[in-house]
Amino acid sequence: MGANRSYRIAVIPGDGTGPEAVREALKALQAVAARENFTVEEVHYDLGGERYLRTQETLPASVVEELRRFDSILLGAIGHPGVKPGILEKGLLLELRFQLDQYINLRPVILYPGVETPLKDKKPEDIDFVVVRENTEGLYAGSGGFLRKGTEHEVAIQESINTRMGVERCLRFAFDFCRRRGKRKKLTLCGKTNVLTYAFDLWERAFHEVGREYPDIEKDYAHVDATCMWMIKNPEWFDVIVTDNMFGDIITDLGAMIQGGMGIAAGGNLNPQGVSMYEPIGGSAPKYTGKNVINPLAAIAAVQMMLEQLQEASAGRRIEQAIRKVVSRDIKSLSAGHMGYSTSEVGDLVADHIATH
Ligand code: IPM
Ligand code: MN
Repeated sequence: MGANRSYRIAVIPGDGTGPEAVREALKALQAVAARENFTVEEVHYDLGGERYLRTQETLPASVVEELRRFDSILLGAIGHPGVKPGILEKGLLLELRFQLDQYINLRPVILYPGVETPLKDKKPEDIDFVVVRENTEGLYAGSGGFLRKGTEHEVAIQESINTRMGVERCLRFAFDFCRRRGKRKKLTLCGKTNVLTYAFDLWERAFHEVGREYPDIEKDYAHVDATCMWMIKNPEWFDVIVTDNMFGDIITDLGAMIQGGMGIAAGGNLNPQGVSMYEPIGGSAPKYTGKNVINPLAAIAAVQMMLEQLQEASAGRRIEQAIRKVVSRDIKSLSAGHMGYSTSEVGDLVADHIATH
């Protein structure tokens, strides 16, 4: 890495506990920047529920154009109790993913030493896999509508859109990622080929066709219901799982629980050819908002993923080491309110570790 590296980061703290989590994540980011001699310029955007209630806008086109020009984006959380469900989720979060064509949602499921998992007898070596969730299509594409709305004969249609291009680029990313990760070299397609015989027929054909280019990767298939079962019973079977948008949404919440909870679960919305966006996956948690009790480690882990994308591998490792230390040595639990420390104290522990190691 050359001298004078400098990154421009767009920061969208968003709703609920998002700003508290993001504040600690930026503390870690600035600490590691100082340690590794690069600089980070933050530009904050007030997108979210408050702005929507004030102006009725979710994601102005001009903001999207500005966001395209950053090196990366850090997002806190989206979702406001005063706004009808769907408006911010679709109008802001999904719109960001779609407009920026962040076609991969990468969600690692890692059990750190010292963290309690609800899975009896499972250890850190058993829970270490990554879900590659398709992030722009499927049931999320917004295709469908109502007929005869509000009548007894009402029809609601919600269609799953699966394009060969969208499926293929997701699979290709998953194979490449599995190879780069270099662990078990096993890619599991999670689908439902026994019922969704159009959508997952396409996925399965593309999986085997693309898979021919990756003879070094073991190919496996599991139905989504079975995937849920194996994630609980034999999580050690998984290395990388690739799946569609809806199934990926569901199994990654399950994944977050087996790795110790939302307090540590991070994800990246990736556009490998464009600008990516990193976020703690836990949501805005209105009941904890402003209390300084939520766990900022998920947001800090999101920064770690961002640094890896920025090719600051050593900085990413420093963050990871700090997270590992804080979960094994300091905090009593990953759950909000039970950490034995406040949100800002956990952020300080991480930043101190980075500054002194
Ligand atoms: C997630 C969230 C979002 C999703 C919601 C808030 C739209 O649950 O990032 O997993 O369903 O993708
Ligand atoms: Mn989700």
